[in-house]
Amino acid sequence: MKTDTGATLAEKADRHLLYQQSVQDVESEIDFVEQTWSELRRRPASLLREDFCGTANTSCEWVCRDDDYQAVGVDLDQAVLEWGRLYNLAELSEDQAERIELMHEDVLHARPGLADIILAMNFSYYLFLTRTELREYFENVLDGLVSDGILFLDAYGGYEAPMVLTEPRECEDMDGQPFTYIWEQASFNPIDSCMSCNIHFEFPDQSRIDKAFSYYWRLWTLPEIEEILIEAGFAKVDIYWEGTDEDKNEGNGIYMPAKTGDADPGWVCYIVAQA
Ligand SMILES: C[S@@+](CC[C@H](N)C(=O)[O-])C[C@H]1O[C@@H](n2cnc3c(N)ncnc32)[C@H](O)[C@@H]1O
Repeated sequence: MKTDTGATLAEKADRHLLYQQSVQDVESEIDFVEQTWSELRRRPASLLREDFCGTANTSCEWVCRDDDYQAVGVDLDQAVLEWGRLYNLAELSEDQAERIELMHEDVLHARPGLADIILAMNFSYYLFLTRTELREYFENVLDGLVSDGILFLDAYGGYEAPMVLTEPRECEDMDGQPFTYIWEQASFNPIDSCMSCNIHFEFPDQSRIDKAFSYYWRLWTLPEIEEILIEAGFAKVDIYWEGTDEDKNEGNGIYMPAKTGDADPGWVCYIVAQA
């Protein structure tokens, strides 16, 4: 079906806007980072480095929280950085936008100024497929942190994580128009634990953006990640596990340090690694 302009909804859509609306929750992410930092450190943080920053959505959220906050976003893809500059940084005040630097670099080699906080969210470091490469990344992160700096990661798993499956979820765009976000785990190889995943978007007129984003990554386990962080030189690593809303029997959005987690079909947690 075509719209008034003759284009389908898929043709009119912007995949980065849809991604930000369906995948990211930068407010909750930065709530967690600010709260955890204030529990672990007796001084305010200032410079946050967002690795694999994509559209730099999280960096924008950070600089909006405090006039002293600065951010550096690092990404390999110049086009996505430009999109972030055009759509996200342009929405900020001049002062806020000036406190963000975008670097077109590989996170394995990026050397911006020392950060208080480094973030790598939405499992982007799963793109490193070997222990050697992941350790090299964590070593570069540690070198990029001040002496009491903290690395924040997220991780996912559960017994559905290695399954071949397709998971649709109803979402709304910024104008309140509905669209369907579809997460596809297209293949999983138990021998090397690597998998192909795709994000598709579907619209009420049945049009579709197929493979709007595709990832080939390794499904790391929490003990592997923890061990490699320690090998890379981090002093302390904690897993923050989500609590349960007993009435609804679902996650309550509150993440606390834990030594035991539930054997859920799918879970997401935070990893907090202190330099
Ligand atoms: C899964 S997206 C993550 C976007 C965003 N951080 C988020 O939380 O949703 C992965 C991003 O990592 C970037 N990327 C992949 N490998 C990279 C590398 N070695 N160095 C820097 N950026 C990289 C890609 O260009 C892409 O924008």
